[in-house]
Amino acid sequence: MADNTKTILRGRLLSFHRAPDHLEDTQAYQYETDGALLIEKGRILKRGRFSDVAALAPDAPIQDHRPHLILPGLIDTHIHFPQVQVIASWADQLLDWLNDYTFPAEQKFEDKAHGTRIAKGFYDALTAHGTTTAVAYCSSHPNSVDAYFEEAARRNMLMLGGKTMMDRNAPDALCDTAQSSYDDSKALIGKWHGTGRAYYVITPRFAITSTPAQLEAAGALLREHPQCHLQTHINENHNEIAFTKELYPDADDYLGVYESFGLLGKKTLLGHCIHMNDRELAVMKETGSVAVFCPTSNLFLGSGLYDKARLETHGVRTAIATDVGGGTSYSLLRTLDEGYKILQLQRQRMHPLTSFYWATRGNAEALGLEDRIGTLEEGTDADVIVLDAAATPEMALRMETAQSLAEELFLLQTLGDDRAIKQTYVSGVPQKRAG
Ligand code: GUN
Ligand code: FE
Repeated sequence: MADNTKTILRGRLLSFHRAPDHLEDTQAYQYETDGALLIEKGRILKRGRFSDVAALAPDAPIQDHRPHLILPGLIDTHIHFPQVQVIASWADQLLDWLNDYTFPAEQKFEDKAHGTRIAKGFYDALTAHGTTTAVAYCSSHPNSVDAYFEEAARRNMLMLGGKTMMDRNAPDALCDTAQSSYDDSKALIGKWHGTGRAYYVITPRFAITSTPAQLEAAGALLREHPQCHLQTHINENHNEIAFTKELYPDADDYLGVYESFGLLGKKTLLGHCIHMNDRELAVMKETGSVAVFCPTSNLFLGSGLYDKARLETHGVRTAIATDVGGGTSYSLLRTLDEGYKILQLQRQRMHPLTSFYWATRGNAEALGLEDRIGTLEEGTDADVIVLDAAATPEMALRMETAQSLAEELFLLQTLGDDRAIKQTYVSGVPQKRAG
């Protein structure tokens, strides 16, 4: 009799132990050409050669994904859930884009039914594009957080997110107060953090939309809930930086604002980090805060070029993300491709092994969640994707001449999108319809 509690996924397994140092760094990853994962109750029980894994569970049904690659699910470390209907809005740079499109769209999330409907489309988009975990800004309404985590729970997805705290320089309908944002965030932490696979993220939007009293409240929340991450934006756009300086004239610099309210640390995710001074980089390193690269957004909003080499030379931890709806694609493959080009413009060449490390284990490490996701290690959650480097006729033609794993990965990054994601498993359950 078939053992329906277990499933075997067969294919070419690829996962990373650490960041690859160079092109030939075969020690950084594990690649099994006829590999398999044995999955039970949403976890990876065994990984190895197909023949060895199959012998352990001879009755388990086999999903045969040969000749495709099997990787850990992709991780998006910065995305805006209420911007599903903001993506692709023709706008000027950041502050106009926020005022003209983003703030009006986010106001609709006061209505729970709207959030619930958008959440379905949001998670469909993530899994279609191979993203199994994301870190999201919800709107300022607690309703939007409920809609976000309720739909994630229905799908058993490991998701991080939180209510955006914002009490000035935005429409009244979006503004909370320092006190209400503290109270609402605290209640939401109690309700959601650690419920199923949910992680709550304390989320002051950025310095411009928070009074000092609200950043103080965010700092208090972080001290009271050190198990939570904190996310915000920094040094994305020159006008944003100038306005921040006006609002916080006594701070050393932009990072100094967040630093003075105790918002930095190993669980702090700082979106953009484009225009950083040396003092800011030193403080980032000292505090272990993470600089999140959002390439499609930085190009779309004309924000600037993220200097990965400089950040890493200064010992700053880095992550990569879509930043939808400033970002223009849900796909981390598209995101890696645009990121590659931004680095090319600065004479930095990202190797494809580094790219795929970054979008899987690298982002998991940035979140401190590599014990659960991003690796295919035994005992971790069964969030897994199947990648087809010949998904379209033109990819198939190019694939005919690919000589190595690195070439195949580079092809996937450069030409791939949701069509190259053959399947997405969340907690061991396939999310994409066959065909
Ligand atoms: N800074 C403050 N809010 C936002 C946002 O929604 N998107 C981006 N890209 N930057 C921001
Ligand atoms: Fe953002």
